[in-house]
Amino acid sequence: MSGRISQTPAPVVVITGASSGIGWELALRLAAGGACVALVARRADRLRQLEAQITAGGGVAVALPCDLTDVDALARLPGQVETDLGPVDVLINNAGRGAHGPFDDVDMATHRQVMGVNVDSVVACTHAFLPQMLNRGCGKLVFVSSVLGRLPAPEHAVYAASKWAVSGFAESLAYELQPRGIDVVLVEPGLVQTEFAQQASAPMARFRHVPSKTAAQAAQIIMQAIQRSTPHTIADRGVAFVIACKRHVPRLFRLIFGAVYRRAARS
Ligand SMILES: NC(=O)c1ccc[n+]([C@@H]2O[C@H](COP(=O)([O-])OP(=O)(O)OC[C@H]3O[C@@H](n4cnc5c(N)ncnc54)[C@H](OP(=O)(O)O)[C@@H]3O)[C@@H](O)[C@H]2O)c1
Repeated sequence: MSGRISQTPAPVVVITGASSGIGWELALRLAAGGACVALVARRADRLRQLEAQITAGGGVAVALPCDLTDVDALARLPGQVETDLGPVDVLINNAGRGAHGPFDDVDMATHRQVMGVNVDSVVACTHAFLPQMLNRGCGKLVFVSSVLGRLPAPEHAVYAASKWAVSGFAESLAYELQPRGIDVVLVEPGLVQTEFAQQASAPMARFRHVPSKTAAQAAQIIMQAIQRSTPHTIADRGVAFVIACKRHVPRLFRLIFGAVYRRAARS
């Protein structure tokens, strides 16, 4: 057992983006810790595989294939979860996508998809599940954002904007919902070895130059933040230090990073 996430016997946890990477690892850990997990993503085959793996190990899981950018499908999710597992205790907004490349080279349809999954569906999913938590006066909203929101890099403009939005959304909600019994947990991972980079057409070479974590390590950090209801976690100590430097000496930071990025673009 990797530790319970709630005092209730079997908390119901919804994990978006459970078909791969961080979401997959989170589902395995949460189910092993005694949670009943609702697995949400588009790839039904992957979700069913994960559901079978969890139930074979004695856990409780239900695969709920859904494209989160489909407004009607998303609106049906809370009812499906309540019918299959009960009212939600924890919603983990983890699904996301990137798009790497010069801003003007990436087409607008892709930019819209990034904002659609990373921002619109996070807002809509939170709005859809929140009433089940407010009805009982307790619950947790978890947001998997990214350090790129606080440390924007070239060729990630819309992704950085989307994650900046998620972090702002989460912090604002925390002030609003904490008095109503709802905890908000924001986690900003650094580089993680998942399908994400490939899907975003990001250069794989950066895994050689930038320290990264495995999906399992990232999931473990998120688990801990959920268990402790930590309001804000930057899931990479080195990057947390760089972000702190940026906050204290912003002009120097821009000078140094501007030079670093120009040099990287030339090489
Ligand atoms: N990997 C990194 O370096 C890194 C760093 C910082 C933050 N993050 C964040 O961590 C989260 C998880 O990413 P990951 O690294 O685990 O990447 P991943 O393996 O590519 O997982 C992304 C998940 O999002 C789901 N998804 C994408 N579009 C969807 C849609 N329209 N509807 C429903 N589900 C959708 C995907 O499932 P389907 O394709 O089956 O729909 C998949 O399960 C993301 O929010 C990402 O921004 C990642």
